[in-house]
Amino acid sequence: MEFRFNVNEVFKQPIVEVGNTLIPPSFTGDKRALWDTQSKIAQIVNAIGEASAHAQGLTKPITTADRLRNSEHRLYLLIDQKANGGKGAVTGMLKTGEKGLYVFDRNGQHFQVSPPCVLDFYIHESRQRSGFGKQLFEHMLQREQIEPVKLAIDRPSNKFLGFLNKHYGLNTPVKQMNNYVVFDGFFPRAVESE
Ligand code: ACO
Repeated sequence: MEFRFNVNEVFKQPIVEVGNTLIPPSFTGDKRALWDTQSKIAQIVNAIGEASAHAQGLTKPITTADRLRNSEHRLYLLIDQKANGGKGAVTGMLKTGEKGLYVFDRNGQHFQVSPPCVLDFYIHESRQRSGFGKQLFEHMLQREQIEPVKLAIDRPSNKFLGFLNKHYGLNTPVKQMNNYVVFDGFFPRAVESE
């Protein structure tokens, strides 16, 4: 996904994390430069959120700059720094955040939890099935110090379910009524008496 401006001037690393300030990591500059950068990041977030919604057949994007501003969500962006004649392109995104959920295990026992959730995930059509999704996902796991099985997934697509099975062996989805999916191993284990 290319923009008229130089993406490499906004983001200096191939994977960056953006939160509600819409300020890139290691930003330096005056107030004017800050506003300019935030406006470019808002354009990027809106465009990639739109593309993700389109790829998932959704009528409205889950990820917009406004929603990100008003949340504690973390948005990881994947940048191809060599694309667009050296101006860079944004090739993927992954959004996570905590949600308060009631989840049921296979025995119908329910738990009230606030796990980290995968809320939106998208790799540009031209780059899918080339390992970029795994690269972005691994970065997030490392940053958030979390195991894949401890994540709750909001409305996973079949592609994403295939991804989780292939890369992490997660193939026992426990579908929840709230459209989240968790896997065996997600649930807190009962404390066994000795
Ligand atoms: N059909 C079936 N499985 C697929 C497809 C596809 N078109 N694309 C990726 N996968 C799965 C497969 O398991 C594939 O392995 P395989 O090629 O050996 O079959 C594996 O993912 C490939 O892994 P990566 O290359 O690391 O994944 P990719 O870069 O394609 O990223 C992603 C995965 C994000 C799901 C991407 O395919 C995508 O953007 N899809 C469209 C949008 C989407 O469905 N997003 C998830 C929505 S749910 C949510 O966000 C909570």
